[in-house]
Amino acid sequence: MPSETRPSQPAPVDATTTAAWAALTAHRDALAPDLRAWFDADPGRAERLSLPLADLHVDLSKNLVTDETLEHLLALADQVGLVGRLDAMLGGEHINVTEDRAVLHTALRRPPGATPPLEVDGQDVDADVQAVLTKVFAFADAVRSGSWTGVTGERIRTVVNIGIGGSDLGPVMAYEALKPYVQDGLEVRFVSNIDPTDIAETTEDLDPATTLFIVASKTFTTLETLTNARLARAWLWEGLLAAGAIDDEDAARSGAVAKHFVAVSTALDKVADFGIDPDNAFGFWDWVGGRYSVDSAIGTSLAVAIGPDAFREFLAGFHAVDQHVGTTPLERNVPVLMGLLNVWYVNFLDAHTHAVLPYAQYLHRFPAYLQQLTMESNGKSVRWDGSPVTTQTGEVFWGEPGTNGQHAFYQLIHQGTRLIPADFIAVANPAHPLQDGDADVHGLFLANFFAQTKALAFGKTADEVRAEGTAEHVVPARVFSGNRPTTSILAPALTPSVLGQLIALYEHITFVEGVVWGIDSFDQWGVELGKKLAQEIAPAVAGDTAALESQDPSTKALIARYLELRG
Ligand code: F6P
Repeated sequence: MPSETRPSQPAPVDATTTAAWAALTAHRDALAPDLRAWFDADPGRAERLSLPLADLHVDLSKNLVTDETLEHLLALADQVGLVGRLDAMLGGEHINVTEDRAVLHTALRRPPGATPPLEVDGQDVDADVQAVLTKVFAFADAVRSGSWTGVTGERIRTVVNIGIGGSDLGPVMAYEALKPYVQDGLEVRFVSNIDPTDIAETTEDLDPATTLFIVASKTFTTLETLTNARLARAWLWEGLLAAGAIDDEDAARSGAVAKHFVAVSTALDKVADFGIDPDNAFGFWDWVGGRYSVDSAIGTSLAVAIGPDAFREFLAGFHAVDQHVGTTPLERNVPVLMGLLNVWYVNFLDAHTHAVLPYAQYLHRFPAYLQQLTMESNGKSVRWDGSPVTTQTGEVFWGEPGTNGQHAFYQLIHQGTRLIPADFIAVANPAHPLQDGDADVHGLFLANFFAQTKALAFGKTADEVRAEGTAEHVVPARVFSGNRPTTSILAPALTPSVLGQLIALYEHITFVEGVVWGIDSFDQWGVELGKKLAQEIAPAVAGDTAALESQDPSTKALIARYLELRG
């Protein structure tokens, strides 16, 4: 429970009252974005606005900004005290004010022996992080080598991670992204939804004797995860009993749980209550937010899949970006600039959404992962001192891999009435360098990546359309206005390190936006009401008449109709 008194944190600066905000407003009013003209007049623009971030090449030049815009945005960062907030986070201050917690996901990826040592609230953070990693890696090695066996003595072939939100989205996204690094003969599956279809489909073709469940839940109270864990345990017992692998005694059942269930949680007492041996549990701490936890023990399923060495590389990728954000001057600090650009679009150019478009099929879950990271963090209407926000916050993040999206929703990005800033992400070296005759298919793929940002930036004028011989009545429909902003991110290959870099980049972008808006990006009270109501409504759905009668008329009628349909 949060403490009764607010942790002592400086009040947020109201960004809208700063001189920089006024300057940005005046600048916006006078600005007529014209990327064609800006590039024509300034041959150095692409080079000047392309920056390195660890292994990533980040081209910001196709954004709707001039050098003056960036100066004002950097002044805004200064006037809201961005660097001080970053230092407060990295130093372990309780910047998660409503939960009275430090925010230290960056500590999860500090390398062994990092100096100076990090001690927060009396905890030797580095030592604890390394101790858990050592335990996770020993477990991963045991599963990978086959020395960890199920009750029948067979090695584990399938690991099923049961978790939801941050205890699912990060691991599944990273597992999908790093498929080429997964050990042959090992598969990881993920169950998250309380829709029973999820666990039923996921376990349908599995052999309990070779299946191991990881129950991942920070709180170990989440309804979906605990329900699915109980269903998984019942499935395991039933399958092992049917195969004659165990008898129906309690000892045999708990022996099966010991060999087929491990847990990841900050609540190790609750793990024990579920029947999982605390020796088979991997801990983390309340200063790791769920959506910032893929690099904690929550990534155990990933560590099993790709192995400790690759997982260390993954962590090193995050750390490289942490180093960059903490030490690079703001005018060349990529996460800071990208966060400020988002503020520019949301607060000055009225953007409501932000697309993230990976040109890498292995990153197909990355936009979904980012939705929790960004929207659970910055979807807030009050600031960290409890006062109402003074401007728009949290844009909607969304996306799908290219080129699929090109044949679906890009029409709206190119020619719709709304401004949709978009990040395009690509890797130079594919995992599968296939040829189609003489053509390198990856080259063809990336030609689309380059073409899209070009079309969005520079568009096509009516004269250019006419010059192609287009009938006059069709000309307006074929004009592209251009001046649709994009950032291009190009990586050498989708390695574990590069994936860590990409995740850390968006974590810090999210933080920068939250600081400008003065919000606590690390709580998530907005998900609580629905959870509570679901528990109150459950008896009505189960047929309790009094519970049904107490509902509002619409909810009551819906439940009644549901009960009728169920017969
Ligand atoms: O949806 C709210 C939330 O608390 C997320 O922040 C979190 O990632 C998810 O639920 C799962 O929580 P837990 O890991 O405690 O099961």
